[in-house]
Amino acid sequence: MSDRPIGIFDSGIGGMSVLKELRRLLPGEDFIYLGDTARLPYGTKSLQTIAKYSEQVCHKLLEYDVKAIVIACHSASSSFLNFPFELSVPIFNVVTPSCEQAALYGSPMGVIGTRATTEGGVYQKELTRLGIDMKIYSQACPLLVPLVEEAWEDDPLTNLIVYRYLAPLEKLGLKSLVLGCTHFPMLSSSIDRVFQKQVPLIEPGLALAKTLKLKQGDNFQLSKRIDSGQLRILTTDISPLFQDLSHRIMSGIEIPEPELINLN
Ligand code: DGL
Repeated sequence: MSDRPIGIFDSGIGGMSVLKELRRLLPGEDFIYLGDTARLPYGTKSLQTIAKYSEQVCHKLLEYDVKAIVIACHSASSSFLNFPFELSVPIFNVVTPSCEQAALYGSPMGVIGTRATTEGGVYQKELTRLGIDMKIYSQACPLLVPLVEEAWEDDPLTNLIVYRYLAPLEKLGLKSLVLGCTHFPMLSSSIDRVFQKQVPLIEPGLALAKTLKLKQGDNFQLSKRIDSGQLRILTTDISPLFQDLSHRIMSGIEIPEPELINLN
């Protein structure tokens, strides 16, 4: 059981920021990454639609005999926590570990993400479910997704847009800021500059990878192998963007050729 792969999915390629941390912290695990590239973006869609897509993707991953599913996409995690569906394997999302980590820094916390993530109110609901009493400020930053996809992380225009979105949060005395979108860890230097490095940035991929080690139990066990975990990449569309973005996000970690799949 413990040597079966872990399934991980995102609306596209950005979820590799989570995959990268999982591979780094759990090098003995096999992973099957599924990017629903044909239907991205998720972050501009309704939570109902995202939940429907997510359920289809999870069922596809079950065909690969995964032992657990990680929802790397924040918009999909938000929809799942609003409309949970039953599966035969444990499901992990990126919102819960971020809330747990933010609680360690205290109130108030900030969250930035797509509109689906910030407007769905999922962080507030999750804090309440976890019994954590914290004030939360959130800000949708939808333009930051295409800027990362254009490889404009280190661009004065991007810094200006980041500043425009985040300046209102800068005055609120945040104790931490959750990078609540798969693409945002790529912008951490620019975001840090707005807060003069005074606000800890929470990278959900890292928080989740640590959580998986702690969440082992009767229904979920990590592999006993210490390295040589295998990776397969499945996508619903293969575009020229894939190579460039995936290599930038995985920063040097080897990535196999994607396999084109159909969700129907
Ligand atoms: N992966 C999405 C997220 O983390 C960002 C891209 C999209 O909107 O599909 O919310």
